[in-house]
Amino acid sequence: MSMRKKEDTQNLEKMAKKTVIDRVIKKEAEKGRLFGKTAFITGAGAGIGRAIAIRFANEGAKVCLTYNTNRDGGEQTVREIEKLGGTALAVQLDVRDVDWIHRVFEETEANLGNIDILVNNAGTYSLTLVKNMTEEQLQEMFRVHVDGTIYCSRAAIKSMREGGRIINMASITAFSGDIAMSHYSAAKAAIIGFTKSLALEVARHGITVNAIAPGIIETAMSKMMNEVAPDFTKNIPIPRLGTPEEVAHVVSFLASQEASYITGAVFTIDGGLSLYTPMNQTLYKLFLEAELSQK
Ligand SMILES: NC(=O)c1ccc[n+]([C@@H]2O[C@H](COP(=O)([O-])OP(=O)(O)OC[C@H]3O[C@@H](n4cnc5c(N)ncnc54)[C@H](O)[C@@H]3O)[C@@H](O)[C@H]2O)c1
Repeated sequence: MSMRKKEDTQNLEKMAKKTVIDRVIKKEAEKGRLFGKTAFITGAGAGIGRAIAIRFANEGAKVCLTYNTNRDGGEQTVREIEKLGGTALAVQLDVRDVDWIHRVFEETEANLGNIDILVNNAGTYSLTLVKNMTEEQLQEMFRVHVDGTIYCSRAAIKSMREGGRIINMASITAFSGDIAMSHYSAAKAAIIGFTKSLALEVARHGITVNAIAPGIIETAMSKMMNEVAPDFTKNIPIPRLGTPEEVAHVVSFLASQEASYITGAVFTIDGGLSLYTPMNQTLYKLFLEAELSQK
């Protein structure tokens, strides 16, 4: 065979292979971009975790959602997912307890197969100034957010294969700080440090680790903000609270194949809140409000 003919044959073979791969990708996408994946989401009986569980199921994933005390919430989320034709399992888990984490991971693997996606969502908050903070308050914050995230990640990477995804729940308070929530801000900042470090450790195994940093999202946790400062949304460039579903969109992208080259990143989801410094608020008033009032 001449060189030219050989090249033409090789090109045709390459094109045929690409067409087959494109067809497979399209077919998989029709089933959902997380089709065939098993996801594990902590603290998913309500709020953001629940929205992520439903979104993942809609994208074709089998979901193990854990609840801490909210059994009704966990079971209701499972029923909702089953109504959508999905597969889900609700299991009780206190992320402060390492042995419990291992038992639940084993149970999940036995029922749903190896874990492909872990979302460390469980979280708690309390309000206290540093001068009044008790050791219990500080320890609780770190046990739930930091220990929980690290121990669940350790259990998950043992189960994960190439293509594994870990998504950790930080907060914009990790960057901005928050009065009366220094222990919460510190724990969330620790989660970001852990995210970047683990991303480095597992990159060569094809596993990505990212974090998201929400602003104020409409859940039980942000209710307090609404109560103490009802017109707070005026201070958000997109002047409303975020929804759990808006957070779930980003998490589902990070969990997908489409995010395969993103690792160690932190995604802010805050309607621009963290950009709204006093300087920008003043400039907003000077320029944009004046412009709006002329219309
Ligand atoms: N709502 C917001 O404005 C906001 C902003 C930034 C970050 N976050 C973070 O998002 C995550 C979800 O919060 P949410 O707003 O949906 O509130 P939420 O209170 O509805 O959810 C938190 C979940 O964590 C669970 N949890 C608490 N302690 C636990 C423990 N020891 N073991 C296992 N689970 C436990 C709770 O049962 C609950 O289901 C949290 O990590 C939170 O810090 C929330």
